[in-house]
Amino acid sequence: MGVVETVVYQQALPDRYRKLDEKELTKAIWEAKKRLGNSLIILGHHYQRDDVIQFADYRGDSLKLARIAAELKQTKYIVFCGVHFMAETADILTTPEQVVILPDLNAGCSMADMAEVDEVEECWDMITREFGSSIIPVTYVNSSAAIKAFVGKYGGLTMTSSNADKIFSYALQEKERILFLPDQHLGRNTAFKLGIPLKEMTVYDPKEMSLEYPHGHGSSRIILWKGHCSVHQKFEPSHVCYMRETYPGIRVIVHPECMFETVQLADENGSTDYIIKQIDNAPAGTKWAIGTEHNLVNRLAQEHPDQMITSLNPMICPCLTMNRIDQPHLLWSLESLINHQPVNVIRVDDETAKWAKTAVDRMLELS
Ligand code: 13P
Ligand code: SF4
Repeated sequence: MGVVETVVYQQALPDRYRKLDEKELTKAIWEAKKRLGNSLIILGHHYQRDDVIQFADYRGDSLKLARIAAELKQTKYIVFCGVHFMAETADILTTPEQVVILPDLNAGCSMADMAEVDEVEECWDMITREFGSSIIPVTYVNSSAAIKAFVGKYGGLTMTSSNADKIFSYALQEKERILFLPDQHLGRNTAFKLGIPLKEMTVYDPKEMSLEYPHGHGSSRIILWKGHCSVHQKFEPSHVCYMRETYPGIRVIVHPECMFETVQLADENGSTDYIIKQIDNAPAGTKWAIGTEHNLVNRLAQEHPDQMITSLNPMICPCLTMNRIDQPHLLWSLESLINHQPVNVIRVDDETAKWAKTAVDRMLELS
């Protein structure tokens, strides 16, 4: 397996960007965007801060942004306001001549970091010894390019929260079992929705290198990697009960990265795009408690003053890595393009990109 090579001009953010105030930064970013013209597209994930998302040419969930990246054949520079795995996916789907930039290389994803490719290889050895060739690997796009490549090489594919049902249904037609990584909650929620009982789900713990059977021994149709999102795991069933007691008639809508018990209690669950559509289509006077990242919840509350919108757990922190993309880093990366000395370029090595693309393309064909 090739090593993911990220071409990095990793320098500290130059001081001058820290000294500008928001008004100066906003003006300078619009000017830089104008100078770069058609050579630049800025992609922005829904979880980005308001002061950054305003510059996005396209905003979307991870599936939509991957699709757009794949279609941007004429754009020289793609600046990705999101997290590392999203920028890697964009690089995998674009040509070698195109340049993908992540404004701050520290914008990772703690869930994606919970699965290293050597750990996945150990897991694969173990479960194929136990279950033979009956397993198809499926990885959430929230994973490194190296893991996507592993999955592509072994006949599997990627998945996002907005195509989860389709991808799991397809995978279960192909093989008897799925290894799903790295988010145990999304895997469990999706499989349960498709009618698979909890006792047929096993958890693989990469630290212990062992299989756990939290719901009793069944036929292990779904093998869930023991990973989670530290933001979404903080939405608990007690928060759903509290909101219903405090605001009678409130609807609870959560992202499927939330734990099983929370998703079961909620009225609805779906990807960030799904959540946005449900709120956009709801009548005035509707009350919502939303279990997803704060930047998106706050934006929805501002955009729909005729509805009552709150976070399902107002006490949690935002996604700290998404929030690393700020105006100073965005301006720095745009000016580096104007000066022909790009910083924070994301480049996946050819061998890894080839297999990772196989996994992503299989997903895109089915979505
Ligand atoms: P979406 O697939 O809904 O964009 O979610 C990505 C993500 O990182 C959620 O935590
Ligand atoms: Fe990763 Fe969770 Fe942040 Fe999404 S919200 S980018 S899964 S840490």
